[in-house]
Amino acid sequence: MKRIGILGGSFDPVHTGHVNLAKDALVQAELDQVLLIPARLQPFKQNRTPASGEDRMEMLRLALEDEPAIAPDSYELEQEGVSYTYLTLRAMQERFGPDAKLYFITGADSVLMLESWMNSEELLTRYSYIAGSRPGYRDEELEKCVEHLHEEYGTEILRIHNQLFDISATEIREKLAAGESVDGLIPEKVAEYIRAHGLYRDRGDQPLQELQSRGLAYIRENLKHSRYEHTMRVRDEAIKLARRFGADAAKAETAAIYHDMAKNLPQDKMDELVREFGLDEKYLGNPNLAHSKLSACLMRRDFGITDTDLLNAVAYHTTGRAGMSLLEKIVFLADAIEPGRNYPSVHEIREIAQTDLDLACIRMLERTIAYLSKKGAFIDSDTKEALEDLMKDQ
Ligand SMILES: [Fe+2]
Ligand SMILES: [Fe+2]
Repeated sequence: MKRIGILGGSFDPVHTGHVNLAKDALVQAELDQVLLIPARLQPFKQNRTPASGEDRMEMLRLALEDEPAIAPDSYELEQEGVSYTYLTLRAMQERFGPDAKLYFITGADSVLMLESWMNSEELLTRYSYIAGSRPGYRDEELEKCVEHLHEEYGTEILRIHNQLFDISATEIREKLAAGESVDGLIPEKVAEYIRAHGLYRDRGDQPLQELQSRGLAYIRENLKHSRYEHTMRVRDEAIKLARRFGADAAKAETAAIYHDMAKNLPQDKMDELVREFGLDEKYLGNPNLAHSKLSACLMRRDFGITDTDLLNAVAYHTTGRAGMSLLEKIVFLADAIEPGRNYPSVHEIREIAQTDLDLACIRMLERTIAYLSKKGAFIDSDTKEALEDLMKDQ
């Protein structure tokens, strides 16, 4: 009977802890083969842009080059939607046939939680487990749990000792972003790949000009003509306001270019992205609110923009919020008073915007709230809080 180990994870990036765990499992549990299966990652859930599936696969290949019995597998990356462990194990059982015995390799903490996993009964009755942990870690608890699962479901759980299991990928990413050494934490070839492909770099120094031209190319392609024209007027207005109130004009220009980039997506695509990015359900079916959040998500995911002020200026351009930055106020107002706008109080707000940015924002927020209540439409709590916050200083 073939004994196959399965090790899942983000592998963002793969590090020495993963490789050692796979090697230790291979040897200590006498496996024939170990597969490392990277998961699909949802960008917004992690508050950062993960490396692409291809990059993570490539880094795994490099890390495992000298390990003939250990290999990466792109199964989960090729699936649609969330990959649950039970689905992956079902697929692997099918691939290797009924005679193969599958061992899911994981850490002690996860083993303690096994009964709460999706479809846990199937997981516990059909498959075996290898729990890697450093000696002494939650020993007693783990012992009890292993016994309990064996009695209850007949589950086989092998324990292996693994010193390096607690290296954290977060820590590694932080070191890489700060330009610190990751010697010994990730395989040398993986470190080379990361350097060559500019992964996990702090993108704070991304030149704005380049972002602007990429953004312009995108909106020229993806926005309706009238929306594109509106965006150009918002851009001009944002530059003017930035100069007037002492903000970074190039940043204001960049935020303006991107601010409505998701505006012309079809409704079903918007809803799909709201779910994919893990945004609040209140944005489903509400393109007016969703487009600003989605524009910021796309800036981050597809353009690698990590400057939070830029992202927030776009994410809150429709609603405002308490504690708006100078840039956020400028983009919010530029969108509201660009020369193409012609609602009744726009002249008054434009006039105020000549001298008083906060008061102009207040008038605009009041107008938004009055307009939405009159229509009986949903008013985002951010809008009310933005108004309240700005009124405090008047
Ligand atoms: Fe907008
Ligand atoms: Fe707009």
